[in-house]
Amino acid sequence: MDKEFAKRRKNLMRMIGHDGIAILPAASVKIRNRDVEFDYRQDSDFMYVTGFQEPEAVAVLMPGRAHGQYILFCRERDLEMETWNGLRAGQEGAMNDFGADDAFPIGDIDEILPGLLEQRERVFYTMGVHADFDHRLLGWVNQIREKSRGGTHTPHEFISLDHLLHELRLFKTGAEIKHMKRAAKAAIAGHQRAMRACQPGMYEYQIEAELLYEFKKAGCETAYPSIVGGGANGCILHYTDNNQVLQDKDLLLIDAGAEYCGYASDITRTFPVNGEFTEPQLELYELVLDAQLAAINAVQPGNHWNDPHDAAVKVLTRGMVKLGILKGRPAKLIKDGAYRKYYMHRTGHWLGLDVHDVGDYKIEDQWRLFEPGMVLTVEPGIYIPSKSRGVPKRYWNTGIRIEDDVRVTRNGNEVITGALVKEPQDIEALMASAQ
Ligand code: GLY
Ligand code: MN
Ligand code: MN
Repeated sequence: MDKEFAKRRKNLMRMIGHDGIAILPAASVKIRNRDVEFDYRQDSDFMYVTGFQEPEAVAVLMPGRAHGQYILFCRERDLEMETWNGLRAGQEGAMNDFGADDAFPIGDIDEILPGLLEQRERVFYTMGVHADFDHRLLGWVNQIREKSRGGTHTPHEFISLDHLLHELRLFKTGAEIKHMKRAAKAAIAGHQRAMRACQPGMYEYQIEAELLYEFKKAGCETAYPSIVGGGANGCILHYTDNNQVLQDKDLLLIDAGAEYCGYASDITRTFPVNGEFTEPQLELYELVLDAQLAAINAVQPGNHWNDPHDAAVKVLTRGMVKLGILKGRPAKLIKDGAYRKYYMHRTGHWLGLDVHDVGDYKIEDQWRLFEPGMVLTVEPGIYIPSKSRGVPKRYWNTGIRIEDDVRVTRNGNEVITGALVKEPQDIEALMASAQ
């Protein structure tokens, strides 16, 4: 991966130019309670550029700088602290193992960074993500401004770094796809294990434990809090309480993804708690599956971002009319957005280091065209809570979503989570094999 990170920095530096300086802070440690910290998660932009996993670090890129273009400020080695909290790379590690041309203790940044800023015209930095660091950076710039009366040079342009960086992040390299496939594999194992374990009478969190077991076993973290919602809970889009008992004859919706080396997978499957779909569940399930397959089919180079959504909405609306859930002409129901009552979210998002990954969806007000290397989710659903007026009662309390991760290829697409069952008979067969 070392070469990969060097290449990313090179690409970014080409965009920044010789009069620019880019500054990226690491994520800070967050306190959970008293002296316990939340699990540390590196900032995705910082991780993409450096591969460095420690907190209290700042990366600086100065294209063309004679004494080194890539400078990393990081913690100093400290034997006592390392005994308590784990190893640190230190400045030597930053240069030897992480490719920095120059490295300084993070405690020296106040003395060193203003001097670096003075040498450049344009500062590339993402404001509004790390509030404390925003203040410090403005402080350094003001410090230079004050000195400028004495003839010091002040950078005169601030440019948001995220726009350039996120355009790079949108297109996944072969190494990134490999990581995403590892994340997908762990997530698939988790979902399969959950399907096999599921029985009426279990708690939702017990199923969550099955997922987490496979994630951890594969060296992964969770990419986002897992949604494990039985029956009506499947209709709550961001349900994460996961504390209810699973009922016989209900469906279970699981939206859970593993993260490998920072890269997310994002999978949803919906299956019967007792292993067999009822007739009304099957009718809705087949409809969502048809919509998902149509949407995946629309992920093609040259198609635009909204084509999969349009395809899903068309199938879902027609199907809901057929099942008596919506009344009217499909074309008009689509135009009026009537489907939104039961399908209220979009059909997907970019996927990468962040589960809702970076990258523009539109360019100059036009939906962006798909290009090879992009990765997105495709995740249509139908959600019918109880007492949905005008909807046949047999469909109440049913939430269904089917979500896969799809890579745009030169000739079409590859469903990187495609190994996980989603045809109803395949789900039933998998669940039956565990009995
Ligand atoms: N798991 C978050 C999402 O599906 O967008
Ligand atoms: Mn998703
Ligand atoms: Mn999801």
